[in-house]
Amino acid sequence: MSNRPLSSVLPNPEQGEANKAAQVQDMFNRIAGTYDSLNTCISMGFHKQWKKLACQKLQLPAGGAVLDICTGTGDLIDLLLPLVGPTGQVEGLDFSEKMLAVARHRLARHPNVTLVQGDALALPYPDNTFDGAIISFGLRNVTSIPQALAEMQRVIKPGGRMVNLDTCPTPKLPGMAFYFSKIMPIIGGLFAQDPQAYRYLSESTLHFLTPSELKAAFEQAGCVQVESQTLMLGSVSLQVGQKPL
Ligand SMILES: C[S@@+](CC[C@H](N)C(=O)[O-])C[C@H]1O[C@@H](n2cnc3c(N)ncnc32)[C@H](O)[C@@H]1O
Repeated sequence: MSNRPLSSVLPNPEQGEANKAAQVQDMFNRIAGTYDSLNTCISMGFHKQWKKLACQKLQLPAGGAVLDICTGTGDLIDLLLPLVGPTGQVEGLDFSEKMLAVARHRLARHPNVTLVQGDALALPYPDNTFDGAIISFGLRNVTSIPQALAEMQRVIKPGGRMVNLDTCPTPKLPGMAFYFSKIMPIIGGLFAQDPQAYRYLSESTLHFLTPSELKAAFEQAGCVQVESQTLMLGSVSLQVGQKPL
């Protein structure tokens, strides 16, 4: 696994590492109102396609139950709902109350969606609860990737799949590193009035695990048949693994 100092990438470096989770929570509370529109702007609209593909990788049964970890504003839930159908259940978990407030507003008319405030590192569910679990653009924010993956694996049923979608630190798209480090904070400063938050989001990408390191992390969490791929010329990575039967 990478020895890059992931935990030292902080939304607010002056506050030190001890309260990284609280800093991340505070940052997402601050940017919740502009998160969706800025996401579309920064990814040039491509994030919906990546998310759709990631949801399909779960191979959910109709009527199944699925968990979206670090659900944020819940836009992935819009894509999961048609996969499980009207008798299925979608659970979204996040620790930012403000991000969840946007999700609650978005998903109010769906009785089969439950939104929960909780920690990705200590999921409030029994073992073997869900047919699948997904984390999208969340894993690079948690303080322990192995613990987050172990928790995901614990709550899915044997044979269930878990998926990670996130940015990739080794893009092959020319200019991408420049875009992450220089352009994103400017966009974040202009539209979210929060260049610090978007500086963190860029830096956390550049310090994040590579696709092969993530594949190894899935295997260490106990997954089998782990597959890893990149999208958009290596700007985004996607992993899928199965809990052994
Ligand atoms: C970049 S957003 C991703 C939102 C959404 N999944 C998406 O794909 O657009 C990351 C989310 O992870 C949440 N988060 C980060 N660490 C967390 C943790 N330890 N437990 C729960 N949520 C966490 C943040 O509050 C934020 O809403």
